[in-house]
Amino acid sequence: MNNRIDKAAGKRPRNLIRSRFKLSRLPEVEAFTASLPFDRRLFHHDIRGSIAHARMLAKTGLVSKAQADRMIKGLKRIEREIEAGDFIFDPADEDIHLAIERRLTEIAGAAGARLHAARSRNDQVVLDLRMYLADEIAVVLGLLDRLKDSLIAVAEAHVETVMPGYTHLQRAQPVSLAHHVLAYIEMFSRDRERFAQTRERVRVMPLGAGALAATTLPIDRRAVAQELGFPRLTENSMDAVSDRDFAADFIFAAALCGVHISRMSEDIILWATAEFGFLQLPDEFSTGSSMMPQKKNPDLLELFRGKTGRLVGDLTALLTTLKGLPMAYNSDLQEDKERVFDALDTLKPMLDLMAKLWPRMTFDTQRMRAAAGDGALATDIAEELVSRGLPFRSAHEIVGRLVREAAAAGKRLEDLSDMELQRHCGAHAGSVRRRLSAEESLRRRQVIGGPSPAMVRRRLAQLKRQ
Ligand code: ARG
Repeated sequence: MNNRIDKAAGKRPRNLIRSRFKLSRLPEVEAFTASLPFDRRLFHHDIRGSIAHARMLAKTGLVSKAQADRMIKGLKRIEREIEAGDFIFDPADEDIHLAIERRLTEIAGAAGARLHAARSRNDQVVLDLRMYLADEIAVVLGLLDRLKDSLIAVAEAHVETVMPGYTHLQRAQPVSLAHHVLAYIEMFSRDRERFAQTRERVRVMPLGAGALAATTLPIDRRAVAQELGFPRLTENSMDAVSDRDFAADFIFAAALCGVHISRMSEDIILWATAEFGFLQLPDEFSTGSSMMPQKKNPDLLELFRGKTGRLVGDLTALLTTLKGLPMAYNSDLQEDKERVFDALDTLKPMLDLMAKLWPRMTFDTQRMRAAAGDGALATDIAEELVSRGLPFRSAHEIVGRLVREAAAAGKRLEDLSDMELQRHCGAHAGSVRRRLSAEESLRRRQVIGGPSPAMVRRRLAQLKRQ
């Protein structure tokens, strides 16, 4: 390796894997192909994996106990060096795996040179990513729990807060703020389940697959899995190194969770407009305008919506990377990590900030109540007529005429006179009149999954027990 570039670079560390080459790679090739700038965040997991591998090599007699101890001591020292910022990352190392192994050969000499027996970076990188994701998904699950707690607290305070529910963004029927918030909790509960299931699919131990066809050496895969806390082993060495389904699963779960946050953001943005006026955003979460002094902008929520586009993009990028790959490992797969990291870095603060936002918003419950009374009770009248024996279609038609008459007179249904009600509903006018109350409408929606305070309290109790 006695060429111009090496000389120019001065005393470069010895390259571990280029003995079959006469020349070093061009620096720009090195820079383009390196994953070290981003995969260094796997260093804890890479070291944990290497320690487990070293122990297994000693257990099976592939290295001596003393050699394994020297490797493990060296690996722990490297971990401290990286944590302290003392580790010198050289782009010639390509990735975090070679960087650590190269340093280990410097520290532990001949013992270090024994570490990579029966292992390839192809199985090593999947091991690292799986360990990293399992830990990070646990963090995401914790963030989802905090969001759920903060939503439950808001729901508990607003079981009787009547507001209009919308379809087509038109006032439809009365619900409560609690019921609306419970809808979000259901969405995020499904996210939680999806992340937990994804985590189980992540926790499959690939080491021992080698480059693609395992190894001729007598290794003990179960020992490694047990030491690292994996409940399962990969069952096909080619699949083990080329499979990134677990990463796609994770990014899908993140993208869908982002879509949920984005939809919630859109509701809050609408409710904070002067037109709705259902809530006030807290100052600590709002932004001003550089020109219009009166503005209180929901930038944060707009960015939750906007960043959800990134999450969908991460998923699209990974699936596109995977779709044309021949068996088994190909370097295209190196592109998986930045998508996973970006999805994590995008989603985690969204969950955290959303959990902090909800308890700080103030709701204008009077405005919500006023909006709920307006026209949203037509179905209640039709259902009253049904319970008095009318076919639903006839009831629908009668109430439709009532609505038309009220609208022509510029009145709300509640403002119609007894005479007007009688003209359309005959003997049922009295009972129809009693149904013209949003509170009454809410109370009667006693179906499982419905918005009545009784049903909402029932669901809240279930959720708190979970
Ligand atoms: N840096 C690689 C990656 O991120 C590690 C595996 C490299 N294997 C190889 N044969 N180039 O996927």
